[in-house]
Amino acid sequence: MAALRVATGGGHWFSALALGVTLLKCLLIPTYHSTDFEVHRNWLAITHSLPLSQWYYEATSEWTLDYPPFFAWFEYVLSHVAKLFDREMLNVRNLNYSSSRTVLFQRLSVICADGLFIYAVHECCKCIDGKKASKELTEKPKFILSVLLLWNFGLIVVDHIHFQYNGFLLGLMLLSIARLFQKRDLEGAILFAVLLHFKHIFLYVAPAYGIYLLRSYCFTANKPEPAASSLFTTLPFQEGPLSCILGSKFLGSVQCCGQIAVPHRLLSVGKAGDASIFLILSTTGHYSLFPLLFTAPELPIKILLMLLFTVYSISSLKMLFRNEKPLFNWMEKVYLLGLGPLEICCELIFPLTSWQPRYPFTPLLLTSVYCAVGIAYAWFRLHVSVLTNPAARRTKKQ
Ligand SMILES: *[C@@H]1O[C@H](CO)[C@@H](O)[C@H](O)[C@H]1NC(C)=O
Repeated sequence: MAALRVATGGGHWFSALALGVTLLKCLLIPTYHSTDFEVHRNWLAITHSLPLSQWYYEATSEWTLDYPPFFAWFEYVLSHVAKLFDREMLNVRNLNYSSSRTVLFQRLSVICADGLFIYAVHECCKCIDGKKASKELTEKPKFILSVLLLWNFGLIVVDHIHFQYNGFLLGLMLLSIARLFQKRDLEGAILFAVLLHFKHIFLYVAPAYGIYLLRSYCFTANKPEPAASSLFTTLPFQEGPLSCILGSKFLGSVQCCGQIAVPHRLLSVGKAGDASIFLILSTTGHYSLFPLLFTAPELPIKILLMLLFTVYSISSLKMLFRNEKPLFNWMEKVYLLGLGPLEICCELIFPLTSWQPRYPFTPLLLTSVYCAVGIAYAWFRLHVSVLTNPAARRTKKQ
């Protein structure tokens, strides 16, 4: 924390933001957790109690180890701390074991791993140029980006309630992007390769990385070097189709939409059009996470957190681009406001109707379809923005 404070140029605000969200994560320790909790407990047990040759063959639990090797080693390292909390969680036959010490350990492991994410956000903020910076702290692009990343609704909900380790994985990705911005291409490439060995879902970004590295690192003779921001003009082609597909999928995959909005967030503080696309993508993506948390005690938490985050993102980006045209047209406004009535129908009205026992999947279907429309629309606008304005982007880069 001390190092972070020095590097942000005397501002204590970054540490305060990071500490604040960490405390919030601690408050979420007793909340509902999904079967992913058992998945990771089982992986701790497998890597701790079996020889390496058995890790990928052990099948006592239905949740076999199916992540790439670095993640397995990560669980192996964690398991050595886990045994100090409760040895029983490291027994492969102890299916569904979730003593309070096990919960505490697993929750804390996600919170600690997020340290890498916090560091990566800090590095990304260093890459933002401060030309637009006003004197007011809360109007600085750096501050806004930090809040949007550190206090990200999707990450908090998926990692610290539902239970997954996306924070540090996205941290690796952000750090790799930050290294590209800092012209440390090799480091960026290595970090991305490491990330792929943790979780293969990031493979969808690989073509964009490949093209960017070919242009900026391999074929540099007689050509101006592309700036790292050109990575993002290729990124939309990757993230668009994926989020579109995922937007219309079920529970298990829907969470990825939240992840996809994170790289896009970097664009949002640079250009009004991008900010508006980001807001539509993130609001819709975050709403699509709602069905993941279906238990009653989490209902107020998810609604409150989502409202806080959405109101903050809209108002802060509105302020940042107050001299440009309005962020949303009437159609987009109606669409986003429609999420409210949709939520009331799905969570409050539908369960009281006689259709509930026969068609229990209707709310999920409605949510998926409604969100898919918004995500497809954001994807379309992103293409229009990239294809119609390449020249302006190029000059801005230089
Ligand atoms: C463990 O929990 C899962 C999901 O809650 C359930 O389907 C499974 O039958 C449980 N297994 C045991 C051995 O209790």
